[in-house]
Amino acid sequence: MIPEDKKEEVKQAADIVDVIADHVKLRRSGSNFTGLCPFHNEKTPSFSVSPSLGIFKCFGCGEGGDVFNFVMKMDGVGFEEAVRTLAERYNVVIPEKTEDQYDPQQYLKDGIYHALRFAGNFFYQTLAESDEAEYAREYLKNRGYPWKTVRKYGLGYASDRFDGLLKNAESAGINMQYLHESGLVKAREDDSGFYDTFRSRLMFPILNPSGKVIGFGGRTLSSDKKTPKYINSPQTPVYNKSDVLYGIHIAKNEIRKAGEVVLVEGYTDVISMHQAGIGNVVSTSGTSLTSGQVRVMKRYGDILLMIFDADVAGVKAAVRGISIALEEGMSVRVLTLPEGEDPDSYVREYGGEGFLDLKKKETGDFLHFLVGLARKEGRWQDPVERRKSINEILEAIAVMPDELSRANYIQELSSTSRIGDRALLQELDLIRGRMEKSRRRTAERTAMRAGRELQDSRRPSESRPGTERDPGSNSGTGSVSGSAHAGHASAPRHEGTGSQPAAAGKQGISARKGVALSPHRPAHAPRRPEYEKELIRLMLTFGEKIIEFVGNYCSEDDFEDTDLRNCYRDIMMRYQEGEPVSVETYSRREHPYPELVGEIVLQRHWVSEFGMKKRGVTIHRDANPVNTARGSLKSLKIRYLERTREKFLDKYAGASEDEKAEIQKWIRKATSEWNRYRQEPAETLFPDI
Ligand code: CTP
Ligand code: MN
Repeated sequence: MIPEDKKEEVKQAADIVDVIADHVKLRRSGSNFTGLCPFHNEKTPSFSVSPSLGIFKCFGCGEGGDVFNFVMKMDGVGFEEAVRTLAERYNVVIPEKTEDQYDPQQYLKDGIYHALRFAGNFFYQTLAESDEAEYAREYLKNRGYPWKTVRKYGLGYASDRFDGLLKNAESAGINMQYLHESGLVKAREDDSGFYDTFRSRLMFPILNPSGKVIGFGGRTLSSDKKTPKYINSPQTPVYNKSDVLYGIHIAKNEIRKAGEVVLVEGYTDVISMHQAGIGNVVSTSGTSLTSGQVRVMKRYGDILLMIFDADVAGVKAAVRGISIALEEGMSVRVLTLPEGEDPDSYVREYGGEGFLDLKKKETGDFLHFLVGLARKEGRWQDPVERRKSINEILEAIAVMPDELSRANYIQELSSTSRIGDRALLQELDLIRGRMEKSRRRTAERTAMRAGRELQDSRRPSESRPGTERDPGSNSGTGSVSGSAHAGHASAPRHEGTGSQPAAAGKQGISARKGVALSPHRPAHAPRRPEYEKELIRLMLTFGEKIIEFVGNYCSEDDFEDTDLRNCYRDIMMRYQEGEPVSVETYSRREHPYPELVGEIVLQRHWVSEFGMKKRGVTIHRDANPVNTARGSLKSLKIRYLERTREKFLDKYAGASEDEKAEIQKWIRKATSEWNRYRQEPAETLFPDI
């Protein structure tokens, strides 16, 4: 465990805007910042950061919390690691951990990170100092990489020994298990020990966006055709090929500035482009582009420039990448390099300026590129083949989440192909229909499978009491039965967004089992009752007077949402003990308060700044906070009585005759109370105290 005061120290030291700005393009808006949420797909910003409170909140998907929550969610790490990452970044020293307090998975990851960092340093040292690496140093110099570059990218050298790293790691006290799990050493066939994975290779460390080494690529410098030119780290708990982008930790700021990411194929392409002054470049490292990688890029910029070399074989594979990027909502542009060039060789020959000239002249949108490709291959000239090409292009347009972009590209395709846009649109509809059908089928299958698994997992304890409802799925409407219903809560209100795939709504139906089906749409988007949030907000904002007033008229049972109920109880307790109660105190408390406060407080800013201001309306909701509280209390009470009634009605069904009479009495009572609360004005229901 990390001591409380340390957590606090890290939280104070960490600048939430700085941390989030590594992943989100933030824009100032009053005292807050806004941007596109990194946790779901969106076109209009619903993500807000409050530097003064140290919290963030997305009103699209519901994610929110303090700087720790952000790092946890973004890096997919636990609380401890989030605190430690930030501590490292902001130079707060945290005492070493003891083993037993650890999440084993986290412990494993930390061990792997440690081993990888050690290896990175070791390879770098070897490159810098060993005689064996003399030819590698020579090689780098000849390729035009000065030592400054070697240092910046942490390049290294793995010696030809089978135990070079192994021995050194051992004597440095690195645990063999971590070295093995990190893919740096392999087990011998006869199980007699381990040997180095990378030997006689120039080493390229691969870093994640926050700058941790997660793996390596190693290039052979021998011309022996039998050794593969590159070998790369295997999948490990910290290295997932399909969301790794080489160079991202260095390129991310440039990408953010340019709003554009340039995608190349190789390690050396990235380094040479950066060196030539083009900083917004990353590479997939030889694999074809995945949606995981696109999502990482999209945190920093929306425009993707794909660079292809001229050979058609390479291009074919890359066309799939275009479609994946379009599907994630990026604008895709394409630049084809002259025959025989790759980005590295091109900038070495023509420099950064030369590249920018070429880019200006030759870059086209993806449609242009696909038509050009069909022309070059002679497909555009043949009527049947041309029809096929057009269909391929329509398929690419069909996956774009934004309707306006689809319409634009249809126009463009219409004028290029001289086929009327009506006909193209019709065809597009057909394709989208087919796509949706298959998406729905997949979703249903997934839901069914998940449902079965859920049933299976419950079978041994049939008698388990009704599962605790997911507090996030609190809908405040109708059913309060025990079944989880994240499904219908998974459609957050989204103003003016054309960016959600049409199938999302349909998926909601098959998601009844409480299964998150769409990766873009967290199923736990909170739907806490507005009036409950409002009461908490008023108490936190206005203190004593309102706390007294609200406390006088309600009790914790009135709250339907578990978190808000706990929060209410906590506020009352603190208040009675004379401890401070304010937005500030609660946004600095432990989980889940920061998230909750973010949701409650930022939402209000949100509404006022974006909704009302735009329409020229300022809201005076807080001119009389007691009155605001009255309105919310009224809703709270009405809803509470409804729940009470439903509870009795449920009981009624299975009750004995005697009980039934009793229950009826209660139902009548709840109903008449309910009517009273609905009919009387709030001022009479809740007079001043
Ligand atoms: N690659 C790989 N395994 C291979 C070959 C290539 O993983 N056997 C990946 C590497 O990430 C490499 C990229 O694909 O950087 C592009 O390959 P290639 O063009 O062959 O290498 P370059 O990056 O151009 O390397 P260099 O310029 O040093 O020849
Ligand atoms: Mn190359």
